Amino acid sequence: MADRYLSLTGTAPGRFLTRRLGLPQPVRLRRRSAEQPSFQGQLLHLTAGKSELDLAPVLARSGPRSGGAQEPVAVVLDATGVRDVDALAEVHAALHPVVRSVAESGRVVVLGAPLDPADHHQAAVQQALEGFVRSLGKEIGRGRTVNLVRLLEAGAAESTLRFLLSPRSAYVSGQVIEVGGHGVAGRGGGGKGGDGRGEPTGTEDPEKPLAGRTALVTGAARGIGEAVAATLARDGALVVCLDVPAAGGDLTAVAERLGGVALPLDITAEDAGARIADALPGGRLDVLVHNAGITRDRRLVNMAAERWGSVLDVNLASVLRTTDALLGAGVFRGGGRVVATASISGIAGNAGQTNYAASKAGVVGLVRSLAPRALSEYGVTVNAVAPGFIETKMTAAVPLFIREAGRRMNSLAQGGLPVDVAETTAWLASPGSGAVNGQVVRVCGQSLLGA
Ligand code: NAI
Repeated sequence: MADRYLSLTGTAPGRFLTRRLGLPQPVRLRRRSAEQPSFQGQLLHLTAGKSELDLAPVLARSGPRSGGAQEPVAVVLDATGVRDVDALAEVHAALHPVVRSVAESGRVVVLGAPLDPADHHQAAVQQALEGFVRSLGKEIGRGRTVNLVRLLEAGAAESTLRFLLSPRSAYVSGQVIEVGGHGVAGRGGGGKGGDGRGEPTGTEDPEKPLAGRTALVTGAARGIGEAVAATLARDGALVVCLDVPAAGGDLTAVAERLGGVALPLDITAEDAGARIADALPGGRLDVLVHNAGITRDRRLVNMAAERWGSVLDVNLASVLRTTDALLGAGVFRGGGRVVATASISGIAGNAGQTNYAASKAGVVGLVRSLAPRALSEYGVTVNAVAPGFIETKMTAAVPLFIREAGRRMNSLAQGGLPVDVAETTAWLASPGSGAVNGQVVRVCGQSLLGA
């Protein structure tokens, strides 16, 4: 559904009027296109504290292409060496003079270190970076995003920096992403499912990182799932598109358009995992995306057991069942990826959605628990995306006033698009993201809900 307010603020009179009235000022976000797959412009690499990261070569590979305007399109502040409050002042000193000049839809990425349990001064100031980043995200405006990456080693964060410093992360802001932390078995991946070809090699084509890989997307006939399937296919994957048999023609059309395979199947079937395993071309899988989801909203006092049961079954029980079945069946190659779909409702809670929020919070719990074990036992990472207000048929059906509130109550003052969730999924699914595990990444424009 068209966002008429966003169109209005894109015109000079509309901008004048809405500014005078003190209304939100969304700008049309710059997203990836075939003509402009990455940003072009200046990258500012700043440091606070004494850093030991070897960042320059990684930024040279993952940052914007040089050329274009003088104003920086991306700023990376390496604050991994900040260990006390004095060094924290260097964060202010580094960003204060430049933040105003960052281009529209530009990026600020702050790099932090994992919190040191043996040094409460280091832990305090590294945690301080989180409050700093989330606040700057709320005030920076003009479609610019601010994120924090906690990392141990620059190389392992390359795919994450490539994503955050590109137009693909247009609707991801105010996030804290840990790379190479708990449960990550180093760059080699390992695990009994490993065949040594799944982890970052540094040789894959950044435009086709999933070439030669097979992905399965549930709920692929429409909405976010269709965008995920299309984005993974763009990145080179052979995509198996799963949806309910009733989705029939739409599902076939999506699969045909993407050169993939249609798999009409209700994901709640007890034997869904086995049937997926049977349907996989070559019997092998690299990327499993749990996207299928339903809502059956009612306040708890009015909610019949059937509404509770169906939502928990589609959104959570089937995710648990099929993940277990496919890990157990040994279909994953080394470097496998599971990306589940949570929701900010599951993080913040939402009136009328006790069933839905329970199911989506359950997805978060699944990710946190399974991620370290899946990596060490199967060489598979497990992460989740948590969308906020995304412009789909589902949100178009929301009453006008609530829809407008949902759109504006985030730092970018607009709804996201299915492609924003898809791009985030594609980053987590890429072979280079082996050091990103157990993360729940919100794709919500830094929504105020659950912030
Ligand atoms: P949608 O309703 O447009 O698409 C969901 C797809 O899943 C449909 O094609 C449907 O047929 C399929 N599906 C439902 N039950 C199934 C089953 N038992 N077996 C196989 N396929 C089944 O939904 P949308 O908006 O694209 O959402 C996709 C995911 O994103 C869902 O998990 C949803 O909860 C989540 N999400 C969406 C948000 C939004 O703003 N649209 C916000 C937060 C999360």
